[in-house]
Amino acid sequence: MAAAPDHTRLEFMILVTGATGTIGGAVVRQLAGRGERVRAFTRNPQAARMPDEVEVVRGDYTDPPSVAAAMAGARAVFLVNVPAPGRPDTDAALVAAARSAGVSRLVKLSAIGTGDPALRDFANWHVPGERAVRESGTTWTILRPSAFASNTLAWAEAIRTGEPVPIRTGTGRQGVIDPRDIAAVAVEALLSAEHAGQVYTLTGSEALSEPDQAGVLATELGRPVALAPLSREAVLAHLRARGMSEEYIEVVMRGSEFIRDGGNTTVTDDVRRVLGRAPRTYAQWVRDHLAAFTDENGGAFAT
Ligand SMILES: NC(=O)c1ccc[n+]([C@@H]2O[C@H](COP(=O)([O-])OP(=O)(O)OC[C@H]3O[C@@H](n4cnc5c(N)ncnc54)[C@H](OP(=O)(O)O)[C@@H]3O)[C@@H](O)[C@H]2O)c1
Repeated sequence: MAAAPDHTRLEFMILVTGATGTIGGAVVRQLAGRGERVRAFTRNPQAARMPDEVEVVRGDYTDPPSVAAAMAGARAVFLVNVPAPGRPDTDAALVAAARSAGVSRLVKLSAIGTGDPALRDFANWHVPGERAVRESGTTWTILRPSAFASNTLAWAEAIRTGEPVPIRTGTGRQGVIDPRDIAAVAVEALLSAEHAGQVYTLTGSEALSEPDQAGVLATELGRPVALAPLSREAVLAHLRARGMSEEYIEVVMRGSEFIRDGGNTTVTDDVRRVLGRAPRTYAQWVRDHLAAFTDENGGAFAT
């Protein structure tokens, strides 16, 4: 059980946006587990499963009064934006609301490669948000994670039913990271000014391709996991079937090709620098989420 918050902690309330999502959810649980005072922001509080001690508030980035109300009294804010082509940037408005409310610390979830000209549009989604945070006049920290280990939850159904898993990025490797490690770094940056002005590129300790990840899953499950390498046309058809706009599809395709061509193999030491320990391995993430790949009802994991 988490220790009762002391007086300082009661004064220091932390607003977590994206609180029902993969990273925000883990940030909420880790902060609450440390006895910190947390307010979780969501469009649908009824559906949000949060630790009892967490205050849950309804809000929507597109509803400025709800954002202003959620910011009131917060000292630090974890910013999660879900950018896409054509979707207006929401970070700038969140940052402005945070400043009006007197928030003194901002931690922004961004993405690896942000602003890298080699990635063009694919790496531009977080550029305005990062700029807003840097110019906020607060103590800020930017987190640029690589691919989340949890992305492979998209394979869970195929693995449960013995189907091959779709391979979209060939043998292109990435510094796959456990979402809990991203959240742990966010928690440190929210709680300590030591990380002010830092831009952390967060990766696991080895670069893995999708076939490498399928191999780890096979080892941990104790049975083979077949691969279905997808052609460019098959990836396009899959994305169109999911109802994505052509503009979105073009950007996603460029990102996949960049990874396939070996553009995102970066591995850094930033998790160890902040947490003082090695990042969790992909195998560890699989072991902790094995039920999602074996049991139809085991997929209800946030991370
Ligand atoms: N997946 C990866 O490999 C990867 C790698 C690097 C960076 N990233 C970055 O990670 C971020 C996504 O993080 P995630 O995966 O943790 O998110 P997620 O699981 O997709 O969850 C999205 C969150 O955003 C909230 N949200 C969406 N629209 C909202 C709105 N209009 N108003 C208020 N809240 C809204 C949702 O809350 P409610 O639905 O409860 O309102 C939910 O909590 C993106 O910025 C992405 O670029 C992802």
